[in-house]
Amino acid sequence: MEIDNNYKRKYDEKWNFKDGSMKDLVHGLHPYPAMMMPLIARTMFNEYGKGENTVFLDPYVGSGTTLVEAQYYGAKKAFGIDLNPLAVLISRTKTEVINLEMVKAKIDEFDSYLAGNPVAVAPEFSIRNSWFSEKMINELAIIRNFFFNMEDNTVNDFFKTSFSEVVRSVSETRNGEFKLYRMSKKSLEKFNPDAIGMFREVIKRNFEILKSISYKRSTEIEIFNDNTMNIPKYDELVGGVDLIITSPPYGDSHTTVAYGQFSRLSNEWLGFAEAGSLDRRLLGGARVKDRVFDIQELDEAIEEIKERDKKFTRERWWEVTAFYNDYEESIKSVAITVKKGGHVVYVVGNRRVRNVELPMDVITYKMFEKLGFEHVVTHVRDILNKRMPSKASPSNEEGEGISTMMNEYIVVMKKK
Ligand SMILES: C[S@@+](CC[C@H](N)C(=O)[O-])C[C@H]1O[C@@H](n2cnc3c(N)ncnc32)[C@H](O)[C@@H]1O
Repeated sequence: MEIDNNYKRKYDEKWNFKDGSMKDLVHGLHPYPAMMMPLIARTMFNEYGKGENTVFLDPYVGSGTTLVEAQYYGAKKAFGIDLNPLAVLISRTKTEVINLEMVKAKIDEFDSYLAGNPVAVAPEFSIRNSWFSEKMINELAIIRNFFFNMEDNTVNDFFKTSFSEVVRSVSETRNGEFKLYRMSKKSLEKFNPDAIGMFREVIKRNFEILKSISYKRSTEIEIFNDNTMNIPKYDELVGGVDLIITSPPYGDSHTTVAYGQFSRLSNEWLGFAEAGSLDRRLLGGARVKDRVFDIQELDEAIEEIKERDKKFTRERWWEVTAFYNDYEESIKSVAITVKKGGHVVYVVGNRRVRNVELPMDVITYKMFEKLGFEHVVTHVRDILNKRMPSKASPSNEEGEGISTMMNEYIVVMKKK
């Protein structure tokens, strides 16, 4: 595909952060799909932040990597938005000041609680018995009962986040998958998890991580469990943001990274409403009409996919159209938050559909350009430590999946 001549991508090995850790500070608290490399955010804060006056926003906050970095940098205020309740919970746990004395006292109570042979009722949800054995349902219910609805919200958050990690590990889903794929029969025969033992380990580990925090956390943090499209309703965000650093989804949840499915079991056990419909509500989840975007690279790619669709029974062009339709709307919401002279950093990946590349970095810069931004630079990096789904394509169609996500693009824009 021809890409606009005026647009330059810059490759420099330093952006690979070869020796950088994904688990620095509190980043290792809970796994999350497609986490941002923390050193990207750290470098960008140093480059484009306004010191202690910085007002920051991440409109797809996920597990809160950028919010932790906003605190580490010492920003004045940092906002995060995500539709996934689990993402909001993890982000909060990583950034709020948790009453660790109370956590420690509660951890110390765990064994005496168990010694009392507690009985607990598990929450009901439609897919529960398909993914957990009776033994696990019982153990999880006992653990949940130990901490659920404690008076101190920060202590609650600590235990909920730790519990969520255990829920995922003891479910009968395959390791290393974001989607809910059943374990093979052979693996299931050998699968005999110990939820209580695992919980004991995770709470100890998470306690140590939080206890080791030594950076000053003066940044005021606010996290909304909402759709990025709803940003305009937050008065304090409109025209109030100096810097945005984010990694948006790079396609609809069903055929790329299924954030909803990844989080479904945790969200259900934690009692968050509408856990089952999350993927449909994320970017690109609902079908839209055919349309043009007036972005040559995108319109041509969609036409090419349409052409290739003719050989298949399932059409894919509309998935791409639906995603970019939402993506453009969300960029409009994001753009109105930025102050004149403020910067936007989008970390994106280019996927392929029907073996046609969708240059998301170019599309991103062009969408922002239409809204009064100028392109500053696009850094290209190799993806070394980002977890990507091995079954990104549900139908195993040609040209999709892990091998196509070789580079990541850090697109920097400035509001004129
Ligand atoms: C690539 S992940 C962000 C990961 C994050 N940078 C981290 O390090 O954990 C993208 C996030 O976008 C969220 N998301 C997708 N569509 C959304 C929407 N319309 N509104 C709000 N959040 C959305 C997903 O729930 C997911 O958490």
